Amino acid sequence: KELVFSGVQPTGNLHLGNYLGAIKRFVAMQAQFECLYCVVDLHAITVWQDPEELTRQIREVTAAFLAAGIDPARSVVFNQSQVPQHAELAWIFNCVARLGWLNRMTQFKEKAGKDRENASVGLYDYPVLMAADILAYRATHVPVGEDQKQHLELTRDIAQKFNNDFAGAIQQQGHGEAFFPITEPLIGGPAARVMSLRDGTKKMSKSDPSDYSRINLTDDSDAIAQKVRKAKTDAEPLPSEIAGLEKRPEADNLVGIFAALNEASREDVLREYGGAQFSAFKGALVDLAVAKLGPIGAEMKRLVADPGHIDAVLADGAARAEAIAAPNIAAVKDIVGFVRRR
Ligand code: AMP
Ligand code: TRP
Repeated sequence: KELVFSGVQPTGNLHLGNYLGAIKRFVAMQAQFECLYCVVDLHAITVWQDPEELTRQIREVTAAFLAAGIDPARSVVFNQSQVPQHAELAWIFNCVARLGWLNRMTQFKEKAGKDRENASVGLYDYPVLMAADILAYRATHVPVGEDQKQHLELTRDIAQKFNNDFAGAIQQQGHGEAFFPITEPLIGGPAARVMSLRDGTKKMSKSDPSDYSRINLTDDSDAIAQKVRKAKTDAEPLPSEIAGLEKRPEADNLVGIFAALNEASREDVLREYGGAQFSAFKGALVDLAVAKLGPIGAEMKRLVADPGHIDAVLADGAARAEAIAAPNIAAVKDIVGFVRRR
């Protein structure tokens, strides 16, 4: 059975990269699949979070999901810490995943930085919890940005190893050849990797100290306009062919953003704006960004003003998520050979 799962961390400001690389695509998947969308608060605390701020951010990411068009009546919207099966399965997967696999994870190396001895054990274990998020539901498809590719490969490796290590019990207990699916990453489109507005070689990120590097989902139209106008570019006009974007990372990024916002391809954008100066193209991009993001930001602000409503959505989502995960985890315990309470 096809099932979509994805997650977003409640840390820092949600930005255009999160929206175009992930959330906007979550919305589109609802037409075709049964979907679960999770605010991954357990992942957030792998680096220290101020408790009050964390609470606020969990509600804000939930508001962004709803404001962008995720329908909580149709899709399951919840936060990770309300469903105990995530942490439970993560422990079992800790005993399946190999140290060597985790040692290759580039995101850990980036996030831990130079002072690796001082990084939390949770930060190191982050990708195992992510595999548990996905596989607790036996999800088959995971829409994410390009930066999550390596983590999804690890998820596939863990599923494969579990299926092999316990092949006998899996077969015997009537699950057939494999218990976990080998999850398909859905990475793509013109905005799989949105870059910083200040440096076309760096990813747009929540942690960049310069607010001019990103467009936040809650930015008002003046802020959006200012940031786009100040975005770094080169001196040439836009090319008319895709090949002309090579070695022009800033131009490529703005064209990709325009394309994704407009549900078009880079080729479509260059067909219209090839030969245009950046001043003209940026004007069109400001109009487009304000038209698409303005209503989302306004709706987010309206929703976060009513935390009671958000919390009710999360509680309902958690109950529905748990109803899917609990039987899966019970089956995993049987497969591993634990004695269950009966
Ligand atoms: P995070 O904020 O790290 O939890 O990321 C949430 C989602 O946004 C994940 O699917 C990421 O891959 C995606 N994402 C984060 N930054 C970018 C970016 N600059 N471009 C495209 N997708 C991104
Ligand atoms: N690691 C993801 C990120 O930083 C967030 C995440 C946690 C996730 N669990 C997941 C994404 C499961 C997809 C599926 O963006």
